[in-house]
Amino acid sequence: MINPMDMTGRRVMVSGASSGLGRATAIQLSQLGAQLVLVARNRDRLEQTHAQLAGEGHHIIERDLGTEIDAIPKWMKQVCETTGPLHGLVHSAGVVSMLPLRVLSLSKLNELMDINFNSAVMLTKGFRQRGVVANPASIVMLSSIAGLIGQRGLSAYCASKGALMALTRSLALELAEEQIRINCVAPGLVETEMASKHEGELPDEKFAQLEQGHPLGLGKPEDVANAVAFLLAETARWITGSTLVVDGGYLANGV
Ligand SMILES: NC(=O)c1ccc[n+]([C@@H]2O[C@H](COP(=O)([O-])OP(=O)(O)OC[C@H]3O[C@@H](n4cnc5c(N)ncnc54)[C@H](OP(=O)(O)O)[C@@H]3O)[C@@H](O)[C@H]2O)c1
Repeated sequence: MINPMDMTGRRVMVSGASSGLGRATAIQLSQLGAQLVLVARNRDRLEQTHAQLAGEGHHIIERDLGTEIDAIPKWMKQVCETTGPLHGLVHSAGVVSMLPLRVLSLSKLNELMDINFNSAVMLTKGFRQRGVVANPASIVMLSSIAGLIGQRGLSAYCASKGALMALTRSLALELAEEQIRINCVAPGLVETEMASKHEGELPDEKFAQLEQGHPLGLGKPEDVANAVAFLLAETARWITGSTLVVDGGYLANGV
């Protein structure tokens, strides 16, 4: 039987692979036949992801993507000398911080933008280099529905996620010339550590309201992993510059 999402023979780097959506995506891609390059800061948690992967030939690379961001393209070239070239890049590393304007400082804004957005730009710049990219090539950015709506206290996070969608539209035009596709996935609230942290920051009734705003209930990490895999695989070979909303109906609900 033909599987149009088969990833056999493809190598994919996943940032944020030590937790949540990055981990679920790495597991799903390995089950589709891909070899994974797992990137994040915490080695123990990367190893936990590694232990859950199907198949062989996967790599663990520890890196703080929020520092020495300028050096990311050079670092990717070095990584690929060991791993071999990449067919895919998934940027799932990210942070959410409740930062109302009255407490938002430039340093907090920069810290958030560095990991959520600036590293995404430099990872993409690194990906397109000779010796790093292999054909067919596809990039997926983990944006959020927070980049499409307003959320009180989350303006910096929302801006970082909106910026990823704008970046993707423009880079799709440049990268099409190099046969590289780039798309975003914009999840609603998914049951991960990030969602638990957000739950802890909100009053109970506010979180309950948020949960009820999802007609299909909160998402599971696998729900997002499926969408990422679809965009990476040949199933999406005519899709670039787009954002796939995966939100259990949250936006349709208009809340
Ligand atoms: N969960 C949701 O409801 C939801 C909804 C919409 C969008 N998203 C987006 O989806 C992505 C993944 O979210 P998640 O729920 O999986 O979050 P998570 O469980 O908190 O995982 C975040 C990942 O990012 C990595 N990371 C954070 N800072 C890093 C840094 N400086 N350098 C390298 N890696 C770093 C973490 O690894 P280490 O700590 O090991 O470095 C971890 O693997 C994020 O971009 C988030 O904004 C999530």
